[in-house]
Amino acid sequence: MAGLPDRGRTILGEPGLGKSSLVRRIAAEAEGEGDWVTPQVRVPAGSDPFKLVATALLDLAHAAGLASRREKRIAELFGRVQAIAATGISVTLRDTSGPEPHTVLTELLIEIGRAAVDQRVVCLVHIDEIQNITDEKALSQLLIALGDALSHQFIVSTPGGVPMERSLPIAVYLTGLPEFEDRAGARKGATFARRFKTTILEAIDQDDLVLALQEFVAPGWEIAGTQGAMASVHMTQAAVAELVDLCRGEPFLFQLAGQQAWNAGSENLITETQVRAGWRAAHREAAAHVERILGRLPKRERQLIQAMAELAPQERTLTRIAKKAGFEKTTDAGPTSQRLDTVRGIVQRGKPYRFRHRAIEAYLTSDWPNLE
Ligand SMILES: Nc1ncnc2c1ncn2[C@@H]1O[C@H](COP(=O)(O)OP(=O)(O)O)[C@@H](O)[C@H]1O
Ligand SMILES: [Mg+2]
Repeated sequence: MAGLPDRGRTILGEPGLGKSSLVRRIAAEAEGEGDWVTPQVRVPAGSDPFKLVATALLDLAHAAGLASRREKRIAELFGRVQAIAATGISVTLRDTSGPEPHTVLTELLIEIGRAAVDQRVVCLVHIDEIQNITDEKALSQLLIALGDALSHQFIVSTPGGVPMERSLPIAVYLTGLPEFEDRAGARKGATFARRFKTTILEAIDQDDLVLALQEFVAPGWEIAGTQGAMASVHMTQAAVAELVDLCRGEPFLFQLAGQQAWNAGSENLITETQVRAGWRAAHREAAAHVERILGRLPKRERQLIQAMAELAPQERTLTRIAKKAGFEKTTDAGPTSQRLDTVRGIVQRGKPYRFRHRAIEAYLTSDWPNLE
């Protein structure tokens, strides 16, 4: 809003860590304040992201009132974006007569951004499941389109009459699995890194979850009761402690455990017994969730995690882990351990190594998620 340049945000992490929920929440809050927000653009595997993004931007443009402007330039721009929304990038790229698809999208974003400056709002673009953009050309064009709009600067005059260079009030959020980093980070290199800031989501701290649930302990969580009256749902402190212990900071498991605990009883008080009963009903799904995450990992990464889990926490040095995993030299394990740390956020390198993904650790080192 202040006109200073800002980078786009890429939020990556293993499935179930809350990436989509987090940005949906950010977008909903922005929308509540009157900002212009695209619907969450979810990219299905193998689809053409240009069609989806062009369609979402056309919606934004309508919200921005651009559609009702009479200028020929705007009408032409709309026509070109509509063509992309209809046919996607491949067809548009083959048509060598017009401008490249990425310049068309950037132009529209700039127009929307300038209208946002006038209206004193922010315009927010959220693209989810970005790891599904496997077409190199489409990905690079999309990142350029968004990046160019983010770094676009123009001159405005301040209330004091002094000209000032400003950027557009555009916020771009990309969310998806860590594999995206390999595609965008390594290949597109410096330009991508300069224009997008990557955050790897991690499990939530136990203390933060306890704090979040404190509202259920006191004063209670208000819900609409029978016949329009308000009622409160409560949790005992023991129930909170048990639930937080079981879910290991995983948002997906937290939601699963909470839902099942609620379903396990019929009163408005959730007890430790209900949390445990609920978890018993859900433990297979909890296990399947972690197995899915492990199953997605490349073989070397899985070997290294497995070896790490087999060692006692204080013995988890790279040398020992590498040896146990059957790597010939410690240095052979270097790139794999680095990936598990900086790209996936599953472990933290250090002396000793530790697990950041506590559900994976629990799954591999104890009889969790079984109770008793
Ligand atoms: N901060 C949070 N607190 C509680 N539950 C959450 C939170 N974030 C996400 N969830 C729950 O976790 C599950 C997975 O979240 P989601 O956003 O789909 O994860 P991702 O996109 O990373 O795979 C959803 O059921 C959601 O309700
Ligand atoms: Mg998601």
